[in-house]
Amino acid sequence: MTTHRVRAWDVAEGARRATEAFRAEFGAEPDGVWSAPGRVNLIGEHTDYNGGLCLPIDLPHRTYVAMARTAGDAIALASAQESSGGWRGALADVGPGRVPGWAAYVAGVAWSLAQDGATVGGFAAAVDSCVPYGAGLSSSAALESAVAVGLDELYGIGLADDDPGRARLAQACIRAENEIAGAMTGGMDQTSSLRASAGHALLYDTRDGSVRHLPFDLAAHGLALLVVDTKAPHQLADGQYANRRATCDAAAAHLGVATLREVDPAALDDALARLDAPLPLSGGGSAEPAVLRARVRHVVTEIARVEQFVELLQSDRVAEVGPLMDASHASLRDDYEVSCPELDATVEAARGAGALGARMTGGGFGGSAIALVPVDLVAAVTTAVEQSFADRGYAPPAFLVADAAGPAARDI
Ligand code: GLA
Repeated sequence: MTTHRVRAWDVAEGARRATEAFRAEFGAEPDGVWSAPGRVNLIGEHTDYNGGLCLPIDLPHRTYVAMARTAGDAIALASAQESSGGWRGALADVGPGRVPGWAAYVAGVAWSLAQDGATVGGFAAAVDSCVPYGAGLSSSAALESAVAVGLDELYGIGLADDDPGRARLAQACIRAENEIAGAMTGGMDQTSSLRASAGHALLYDTRDGSVRHLPFDLAAHGLALLVVDTKAPHQLADGQYANRRATCDAAAAHLGVATLREVDPAALDDALARLDAPLPLSGGGSAEPAVLRARVRHVVTEIARVEQFVELLQSDRVAEVGPLMDASHASLRDDYEVSCPELDATVEAARGAGALGARMTGGGFGGSAIALVPVDLVAAVTTAVEQSFADRGYAPPAFLVADAAGPAARDI
């Protein structure tokens, strides 16, 4: 079996590729190249739209965007990944539902920066990326974040220089994704891509928008974080994601709290007991009591698991986080119902071959899983997952080992 590894380009290669794509499309030199990373979330899944905590790291895999400022407000976009071609339009034309496909993530950022009061005008951009697409590793947030720091510099907005400014850039990216691309995701991915730091996990508190940088050095403990892209198709993702979000919102409203973050874990049973009748969901349909209880139980226990994970990290006991990862996966599979057979098979095979813990990461319904693995067992765990997929007749998965890399930045 040939193992499929997802190679991360170094910055020079990424910048060269994006520059070449720019020259080929526009016959001119870009003003610069900016890039931003994909992410994996260590723990704290489906908590970011519930006022909760999450703990992502940035991947060494980045999306590179060569950009040039242009006169007027014309936008011209090209991507080495998209055979369907680029997009040409004007900033004045950008609005909800008016930009198709991947271009919405790019033009949407310019639109939301302008909505935020920044003076933004026309630009040309060419994109190339080694962030796996559709793998739940935030390729869309990487694209938005790279464009955000590019526009920030091209138009002298000055937000990328400090964390409060980057928080505003992240908000602009989230708004682009929610309103222009039409995906109602939370803010974890953009926040990680813009505000994390190399060698650290990012503790993001979505209740107040604050972040903490926690040293994350697995190699010092003889450990590695293996990421498995299951390649499972996840067509259901959008509707199911929106459904989970609506269910949480309905439960919080019924419990009389702003978000599920406000449900005290010590009083969880009382809260669950109060979810004793179906609730209507925004967007249509309703949720039964058993479903409401399961979703709330996941969110409340998951936030508590993030706190326990952080305590272990801070007391230099990262080798002990495995059971929390396992519990997170079980909760996402059984209570939140966002896993899938390929993710469950990955987690099971990884643990069976010696992983200390494993869980799905990201939104679910396909995408990727992570496993915490002693360095000398990475090959064995990889083989076990491949074998498990082959036995089940699944397409071969892809692998990468994730070190905590750095956030969005200018490359050249
Ligand atoms: C997707 C979304 C994030 C977050 C995760 C689940 O990745 O983009 O905002 O909600 O799912 O934790």
